[in-house]
Amino acid sequence: MTVRRLAPDVVQPAAFAFSKTNDNWADGQIAKYPKGREASAVIPLLWKAQEQAGGWLPQKAIEAVGRKLGMPYMRVFEIATFYTMFNLALAGEHFIQVCGTVPCHLKGAREIIKVCEDVIGPQSTVTADGKFSWLEVECLGACCNAPMVQINYDYYEDLTPENFTRLLDDLRAGKKVKTGPQVDRSCSEPLGGGETLKDKALYDGSAVGRGDWQKRIAADREAAKKAAEAAEAAKAAAAALGTAGGAPAPTPASVASVSAPAVATAAPAPAWPAASAKRQPSSSTQDTPAAGGLSLKGLSTSKAADKSKDGIRTKVASVKATKTAAPAATEIPAPTDAPTLLAKPRGGKGDDLKLIWGVGPKLEKLLNRRGVWHFDQIAAWTDKELAWIDTKMEGFKGRAVRDQWVEQSKKLATGWRPDSAVGDKPGKK
Ligand code: FES
Repeated sequence: MTVRRLAPDVVQPAAFAFSKTNDNWADGQIAKYPKGREASAVIPLLWKAQEQAGGWLPQKAIEAVGRKLGMPYMRVFEIATFYTMFNLALAGEHFIQVCGTVPCHLKGAREIIKVCEDVIGPQSTVTADGKFSWLEVECLGACCNAPMVQINYDYYEDLTPENFTRLLDDLRAGKKVKTGPQVDRSCSEPLGGGETLKDKALYDGSAVGRGDWQKRIAADREAAKKAAEAAEAAKAAAAALGTAGGAPAPTPASVASVSAPAVATAAPAPAWPAASAKRQPSSSTQDTPAAGGLSLKGLSTSKAADKSKDGIRTKVASVKATKTAAPAATEIPAPTDAPTLLAKPRGGKGDDLKLIWGVGPKLEKLLNRRGVWHFDQIAAWTDKELAWIDTKMEGFKGRAVRDQWVEQSKKLATGWRPDSAVGDKPGKK
């Protein structure tokens, strides 16, 4: 422990005043705090005063800070004498703070202190050449590299009496010294080098089966670029068709005028029967279904004047008309093995799928996006359908089987409800 007293009168200067620059700086610090709270700037001001006084705090400097902040001197003394970062006595050019707290103590801080006593002299005294002074302080927060010292603004760690003595010799000789650990290790990694997290796969995503993340991002960007180009090309083609031969693109009025015959003559959009036909025919028009039972594939396969501008207009009108007439909630087409999927919940409201243990808000949204809204839908899944759904659960693969969604949903579909809002864990008695 260190006794914290002001330096004897004999070394105290007769006066202290902040330099113009430091005074301006102090004003800037004080301005950071609300009016009436100027005292909050006491530590930075004491630090600046110590810097200006040559590495220690004369009594007059402490008083000057008190005056600047409108604080009683005693309050400022209390602070200056509490923190060992403030030197109350003259300090050497290299001011050494030796940590003497338990971890450093156990790792040999006493031997480091012995070196200080032998080479420099008693605590808080400056060597005759003015080069060194030292002080024992409490933990400096580098315990894993104990024992350590702080010299001016730098840390020196993993000290032994030998390397510390060498360090002092080098400092005295004005040589450049290495800061941080004085043994062969980087920062606070284990002695002899790091032993964990060496696998490169941990940093490129391959450890979680996502491959090289840089390549993946590059591929994603390329795909997005191509998709944007394709969309642009499609837009340009549509514009060209609309203006070819000087004919205007169809307006709402013109669409209305042709819509009735178009519905009659164009190939009908595929309508998937409700519960009876949850599988779609393999050769039909289901590839790109639009929500609400609308399929655009009929547009491309119809014989109605595919190459003629008028034919295409008629098709557009037909599609619009079909969309208008679509039923409110119908099953949407899905590939073979897909279960019954609904574009919208029945009755306009889906079940609270979060009551299935393991399904949170994210998964519920994902299920809804996939056309799953009700417990009875899940309860009816066959093994094949379960496997199909699993392929659509991006980021949650395997959850449906692991958490027994089908079994849980069978129970929930009967009207039974769990005690908890997150459901009952399967297997709970
Ligand atoms: S105990 Fe010495 S740095 Fe923490």
